[in-house]
Amino acid sequence: MFTIIRTRSMALPKPESSAVPDEEMSDEETCVLPADTMLILQQFLQEKELKERSEKAGAEPDGCFEENWQLSQFWYNEETKQKLALIVRKLHEQNTSDTFRVALLSAPSAFKHVVNENQQAMLFEFDERFASYGDHFQQYDYNKAYDSGYLEAYANQFDLVIADPPFLSEECIEKLGVIVKKITKQDAKVLLCSGAVVQEWAKLHLGVSMCLFRPEHERNLGNEFCSYANFDVDSILNKGC
Ligand SMILES: C[S@@+](CC[C@H](N)C(=O)[O-])C[C@H]1O[C@@H](n2cnc3c(N)ncnc32)[C@H](O)[C@@H]1O
Repeated sequence: MFTIIRTRSMALPKPESSAVPDEEMSDEETCVLPADTMLILQQFLQEKELKERSEKAGAEPDGCFEENWQLSQFWYNEETKQKLALIVRKLHEQNTSDTFRVALLSAPSAFKHVVNENQQAMLFEFDERFASYGDHFQQYDYNKAYDSGYLEAYANQFDLVIADPPFLSEECIEKLGVIVKKITKQDAKVLLCSGAVVQEWAKLHLGVSMCLFRPEHERNLGNEFCSYANFDVDSILNKGC
């Protein structure tokens, strides 16, 4: 059980399970809500706050946001987003099960293209502005990879992960690997977009090898950028649509 104190200044949605009618409660009275009602209330308030924050941040008309370089955000160009969507479409076609599901990790600019191909796609992203994607958004921080039970709700859920982590460090790739292992099904496909310098760590922690496909960005990056996968990305792209 949780307890909330009603005051004049607090505008809370009226809990359905409250047995006490409004007129019988004084301003300082205590209203005790059942735990499940309180959980719904907390979720409602959290979603409202995220939505307000995202609105304040100012969504672009197409649903993406300005790059925030403090978060190492460098958005893909249109051609790359279309290529990622094509990879999703082809793998979805090859996978005959109804439950084919894609996770995008730290690759938010591709989400709209990807969700067109896989309606169950999820975006895992640190930047809460993308909470505007509603149920398709899960806030995450790769630094929490070893926290007990972290992202447990998504264990063994995904057939394909496309990831573009924020840093070119072994620590970041290793922790990403822990999260990818947790959320993927057995024999899942993994596509990592990252710098050439992570090649060895990508193999070690994610079991992926360098492909010819080079993701490109709206702005030129200073470092050599590559892709790595545990499946044949290049032949999918060479065959085209
Ligand atoms: C190199 S960018 C990749 C963006 C991708 N190229 C795109 O176009 O969507 C790295 C992404 O990691 C996210 N990020 C930053 N800090 C993070 C953290 N601690 N955990 C997970 N993701 C993080 C950034 O917000 C950003 O979207």
